[in-house]
Amino acid sequence: MSGIATEVTMQRRPEGALKDDDFAFVERSLPAIAEGEVLVENHWMSVDPYMRLYLTEQSGAHAPLQVGETLHGGAVGIVVESRAKNLPVGAAVQSMLGFRDRFVAHASELIPVDANLAPLQSFLGVLGLTGLTAYGGTYHLLKPQAGETIYVNGAAGAVGSLVVQLAKRRGATVLASAGSDAKGAWVTDALGADSFINYRSDDLSEKLAEYAPDGLNMMFDNVGGGQLEAAIEAMAPMGRIALCGAIELYDSDNYRRGPANLFTTIERNVTLFGFNAGQFRSNAPAIVADLAGMLARGEIVNEETIVVGFDNCIAAFRGVLAGENTGKMLVQIKV
Ligand SMILES: NC(=O)c1ccc[n+]([C@@H]2O[C@H](COP(=O)([O-])OP(=O)(O)OC[C@H]3O[C@@H](n4cnc5c(N)ncnc54)[C@H](OP(=O)(O)O)[C@@H]3O)[C@@H](O)[C@H]2O)c1
Repeated sequence: MSGIATEVTMQRRPEGALKDDDFAFVERSLPAIAEGEVLVENHWMSVDPYMRLYLTEQSGAHAPLQVGETLHGGAVGIVVESRAKNLPVGAAVQSMLGFRDRFVAHASELIPVDANLAPLQSFLGVLGLTGLTAYGGTYHLLKPQAGETIYVNGAAGAVGSLVVQLAKRRGATVLASAGSDAKGAWVTDALGADSFINYRSDDLSEKLAEYAPDGLNMMFDNVGGGQLEAAIEAMAPMGRIALCGAIELYDSDNYRRGPANLFTTIERNVTLFGFNAGQFRSNAPAIVADLAGMLARGEIVNEETIVVGFDNCIAAFRGVLAGENTGKMLVQIKV
């Protein structure tokens, strides 16, 4: 036997904002590992806005989770028992088996990570899905040029904070928005954004017109909803928008709905790039190497908000949806 694991299950389908009792911590017996399998202890797990989507019946990219099933998501851990030649005890591995403290899996389901390259949790953030999303959306799709203006929302979050910095590296003027003045100070002072808009207290349309009087050349959209609509109205002709996420809508009963003013993109010849990080998978080694280089040379800020303790993973999940994070929200399972 490989012992007992604690996992987080969905107890009922959440409506609106997540509640603690939508979930339960349950103990499960793990089987003895078979040939080719390993037992992994998770050290870090990621909480991401997209996880809110697979808790709904509308979910597309990920199959909707059913009541009683265990949540899943990015995690990194260490192999503690092994019957797989390529993953000896002590190997660091990345999986999509978060929301559990330990698990048994076949080695083929796991990605070995180089713990010498960067701290383990980086593979859930800047050197993982977050980095791939920010880099792919910015450099492969939007392709900012010096002298152009980009609006980035969710700019103090994991993806947004990288997009701000990547766009600045190409010489773009960056307008950034987030939900507090403290985040605004960080986004301008530490990340280099040229202007900040507090979407809670400022009039977004007025500020976009003030900071980009000739219109926006690009938008990197993490928020959707009203912020996307305001940005569409502020686009310059031939502008381009990378549609990354729509967190404003994730607690609503229809997160899939689009902007009411989509026709404006036709009139202005605006290109919309709907995308997800998976499309950059073949570029991932080059993207990760480039980001790892920037990180090692101290050229990019990689902020993390760390919630300690597996017991607090639902609080962290609720927190990332409520804006309690600056940079990447992570749960440290093993201290
Ligand atoms: N397409 C892909 O492959 C892909 C991959 C990763 C992430 N994403 C998407 O990218 C976006 C950012 O993800 P992330 O992992 O980097 O998360 P994150 O930005 O680190 O965290 C989410 C942030 O969203 C903000 N927020 C919450 N509710 C909001 C609202 N109603 N209006 C405006 N902002 C709100 C909060 O900051 P404030 O304090 O500013 O409100 C919060 O910190 C999400 O939409 C996510 O689904 C897409």
